[in-house]
Order: sequence, then structure tokens, then C-alpha cells
Amino acid sequence: MATHRVHPETAVLTRGFDPRLSVGAARPPVYRTSTYVFSSPEAAERAFAVALGKVQPDELETGDLIYARLSHPNAEIVEDQLVPLEPGAQAAAVFNSGMAAISTVLLALLHPGDAIVYTIPLYGGTYHLIQRVIIPLGIEARPVEAGDTRGLKRAIEETENLRLVFIETPANPTLVMTDIGAAAAALRSHSEPPLLAVDNTLLGPTFQHPLAHGADLVLYSATKFLGGFSDLLAGVVMAADAELVVRMRRLRALLGNILQADECWILDSRLSTVSLRMNRQSKNAQRIATRLADHPAIKRVYYPSLFADPEQCRIRDAQTDFPGSLMTLEFKGGKPAAFDFLRRLTIARNAVSLGGVESLACHPATTTHSELSAEELAQAGINEAMVRVSVGTEHWRDLLEDFLNALKP
Ligand SMILES: Cc1ncc(COP(=O)(O)O)c(C=O)c1O
Repeated sequence: MATHRVHPETAVLTRGFDPRLSVGAARPPVYRTSTYVFSSPEAAERAFAVALGKVQPDELETGDLIYARLSHPNAEIVEDQLVPLEPGAQAAAVFNSGMAAISTVLLALLHPGDAIVYTIPLYGGTYHLIQRVIIPLGIEARPVEAGDTRGLKRAIEETENLRLVFIETPANPTLVMTDIGAAAAALRSHSEPPLLAVDNTLLGPTFQHPLAHGADLVLYSATKFLGGFSDLLAGVVMAADAELVVRMRRLRALLGNILQADECWILDSRLSTVSLRMNRQSKNAQRIATRLADHPAIKRVYYPSLFADPEQCRIRDAQTDFPGSLMTLEFKGGKPAAFDFLRRLTIARNAVSLGGVESLACHPATTTHSELSAEELAQAGINEAMVRVSVGTEHWRDLLEDFLNALKP
């Protein structure tokens, strides 16, 4: 195992797994067991005392495994391997979906009487979690439009009992970016600073590093780029303060939403290629977005390298390295043109989700964001002429041809 500091691409293949603990296996085996045998009743007593936080573990004590709902070897391995991918992270916790990760963070940090500030648009599931679960618990929830730096600062400074700021940037599906560093700075106006959580699903972990800009927690739907093949559901929480991750793991044990061993193993096998895949997907998308931007059937392509608004360009340049593989096409012909485009695609598939090696396209207003009212859609900047495209690793010329064919009148 490499002990000196190495780059993330190396660390992801060398840390977190010790072959000596697994009969010399070069790759981690899957530990399919729900429970663990203790070496003695005293060891069992100690393991529970450590797990429940009744005693502090000794410096080199790893803590015996107890029961797979609390943790298990495949979770520990993939959690260790995720850490170097997120600059500034000290620890990671894996969940059985992105929503499981997000709901655990909100439930762990917010209590009746507290307040949360969040950006809109948010992924529909997160938005509805806030409306249907968090607000009914007696928690005040204050939305701020994505990209409105001044509005965000004001909301953070003015909201009493603020415990959490939740930012999704870029926003899905408008790609509007929110300034993470400005939010982090505004938190300091509170005598007891609230925490800042960033859903980094769309550009992380390769192109955007929220902890480096002052965020406390980074969240992922690992179903997307981290998993990368549209064949598993997973979620991840990472933090600069390992104690915060311990809190999430404690609630995870009660909610029972840890990622299971097989899924951990699959996710683990995908991590070493996440930056390769994302770089290729981003290059593909950039080439395609540039060419589609001038197409006569297209009103506008929403894509970071095509931003025109100076504030959006500033945020993009300050906190992202590459534009990524998500773009939204707005059709001059409205919803009928958007549907015709989706119907005619032959390489890209008409499906929700994103971040896989295969290109996917969907109509947000009637699918991923269909639970939003007309007013909420308008506020979020989403309209019926939009199609969101997640560009995969196919050859970009084939994809471009597919899109141009689908655009033919
Ligand atoms: C930005 C974002 N966050 C969270 C989620 C939820 O993740 P999951 O579907 O893995 O629960 C999604 C899913 O599409 C997403 O796009």
C-alpha cells in the first residue's frame, strides 16, 4: 500500500484494501455476510461500546465489525478509496442511493425550529424531500434562485436558526452555477456557523471540488458518474471533518440505508476510471454543444462553455475545471420539436438519469421535473422546449450525426 502522498488516480488503486487481509487476493473479494463472529464476549462488548460512541477507540484500534447494517468490509474499502477523489475530504460514507445520502444528511443535521437555505432548481427528489418531509417536521426552508450570489448571501445572513445551506451546482437541468465560496464566506456571519452541503453529482469528483471552496459536506448520486454504467444505485457523503461522516454513519445504521456489499464492490471497480470517463464525456459534449449552438432548429444550448452571463462565467472559471457532459437543448419548435428529437434518436436513448458511458436524453418538464407546478417550473427556468442530454463515451462524430439527423425537419 502506498504510504506517501500520491495522486488520486494512484491512491484509488492502492489505498483502502490490504490483500493480506483477504488471502492475498489482488482485488477486493465480496464479503457477503450479514453478521460477524467475535473473538470473545469482551471483544463484542468493546465493539458495541466503540460503535455507540460510549468509549473512544485507541489510536490504532480499527473497531471490530458487528453487523452489516452498521458497516462491512466492502463499504470500508470503497469509502477509503473514494476519499482521495475528493480534495480536502477526510472520510466518506456510502448509501444505497443518492436520495438515501441526501435524506440522511438532512435528517441528521436539521431539527424542529431549525432552518435550511437551498438553491432552486434542485433535483426533483431533493426538492420533494424538503417539501414533504423536512418542512412538515417544523423546519423552515428558504429557497434562493441558483446563481443569485447576492440573494444567497442575504438569505444566509438573514435566516435565523440556520443550520444548513444546501447547494446543487450546476443545477439540473439548467446548468446554472452557484458560487460555493461566496456561500461559505456568508456562513461566517453567524456566531455558530451553519454547515454548507453541495450536491456535486453533475461535475464531481473530477471537475469541481466543493470542499476546496469551503463546503463542509459533498454529496453524490453515485448512480451517475461514479458508478458510470447505469447499472447500480448508490450515494456518497464526504466531509473535511471525519466526525461529521461518523454522525452520518450512525444515522445510516438506524435508517438501514448502507450500500450493500455487491454494490460496493461494483462501485469500487468503477472508481479508477471515473476521471478517464468524465474527461472523454466532457470533450465529446463540448464538441457537440459548440456545433449544435448554431443549428437553425435550436433556440439555445445550455452548456457551461457557452455561458454568456458575466456572473455565470465568473463562477464557472472560479470553481470548475471542465464543462462536463450535461447539456440542455432548447428547441425553437417547443415541446413537439423536443419530442420529435427524442423519438428520432438512434444512438442516444430516451431515458432519465445521467453520467453513464451511454448517452441519454430526456424531456425534464414531463419527466424528471414533472412534479413541479407551472409556477415552480418557470421559477426554475425550465420550459417545455427543453431536452436534457447526458453525453456518453461513444465517438462524438457518431453522436453528432445522430443529433443532426434527429433535428432534420
Ligand atoms: C443532482 C442529483 N442529485 C441526486 C440525485 C438522486 O440520486 P439517486 O437517483 O441515486 O437516488 C439525482 C438523480 O438523478 C441527481 O441528478
